[in-house]
Amino acid sequence: MSEISSILVTGGSGQLGQSIRRLITKNADYKVSFPKRQQLNLEDSQSIRDYFNQHTVDLIINCAAYTAVDKAESEPEQADQLNHLAVKRLAKMAVEQNAKLIHISTDYVFAGISCKPYVESDDVAPQGVYGLTKLKGEQAILSIMPDNAVIIRTSWLYSEFGNNFVKTMLKLGEQRNELNVVSDQLGTPTYAGDLAQAIICIVQSEAFNQTNFKSSIYHYSNEGVCSWYDFAKTIFELSGIDCSVSPIASKDYPTLAKRPNYNVLNKAKIKQAYALDVPYWKESLQSCLRAIQGKAS
Ligand SMILES: NC(=O)c1ccc[n+]([C@@H]2O[C@H](COP(=O)([O-])OP(=O)(O)OC[C@H]3O[C@@H](n4cnc5c(N)ncnc54)[C@H](OP(=O)(O)O)[C@@H]3O)[C@@H](O)[C@H]2O)c1
Repeated sequence: MSEISSILVTGGSGQLGQSIRRLITKNADYKVSFPKRQQLNLEDSQSIRDYFNQHTVDLIINCAAYTAVDKAESEPEQADQLNHLAVKRLAKMAVEQNAKLIHISTDYVFAGISCKPYVESDDVAPQGVYGLTKLKGEQAILSIMPDNAVIIRTSWLYSEFGNNFVKTMLKLGEQRNELNVVSDQLGTPTYAGDLAQAIICIVQSEAFNQTNFKSSIYHYSNEGVCSWYDFAKTIFELSGIDCSVSPIASKDYPTLAKRPNYNVLNKAKIKQAYALDVPYWKESLQSCLRAIQGKAS
């Protein structure tokens, strides 16, 4: 069994990074660093080398990413730099330091045209720059680190931190009486607090602490399926906001990057490997809304 004591979390100011920070800093077993971009700039290979020359870590949790899905279409090099090349460099550093790696990827690696929940071994076919660069990041890890890496694909991430669909709906719901929301794209929302908890369970598990376990991809979202329309209506219902929501088709809400129509993830593999209980999306949404209200009051 290996001993994990020193953890580096990249993207500590993002939704998932902040969710991990809130949970893990209560745990005295680990020394956890959340360097700011000035201390570790993942777009800069020298900055990465300098950081690892000065710090030794047992585990890297990579939550940093270029996440602007539409903007990535006009900034493919920047997206590639962070979602692919930086990931490749982090994997090399992990090997040099004999560290483990937990990396977050996305459902956008799939074409999104399935009619049943995607399993990890399903064919990938990203439809845009963001999905393609995230896929290249996954592939780089698996070729550099055949052992000691866990890649978690997730979907529709939201939290009380940063900007996301839930916070946008809460803002729009206060400003407008009615909204049109896309109803022909199905997926599952993922509360970043739940994903953070799942990551901590993985870090503490016996399987993850084995020396040289085989690297693998896993899927994680909350349980259940909904459309963006269902999601918006439920946000308003649970928050007591009186805003009428009408369903519209994706073709009536054009975006720069093509969005998948069906991106439900099958979570059987991660649940079995790490004995995880995955909450139902509406219950987790309720938890997030409570956290948002708590922050506002
Ligand atoms: N959001 C979603 O709906 C979604 C869905 C599926 C998968 N994912 C994946 O889940 C993971 C976490 O997403 P998130 O929503 O938590 O992301 P996020 O809130 O957009 O945060 C991104 C983080 O990356 C950091 N970052 C950006 N450029 C950097 C650089 N050059 N050097 C160092 N750090 C840099 C940002 O730091 P700054 O504060 O300095 O900018 C920020 O902390 C990502 O891998 C994402 O691809 C997200």
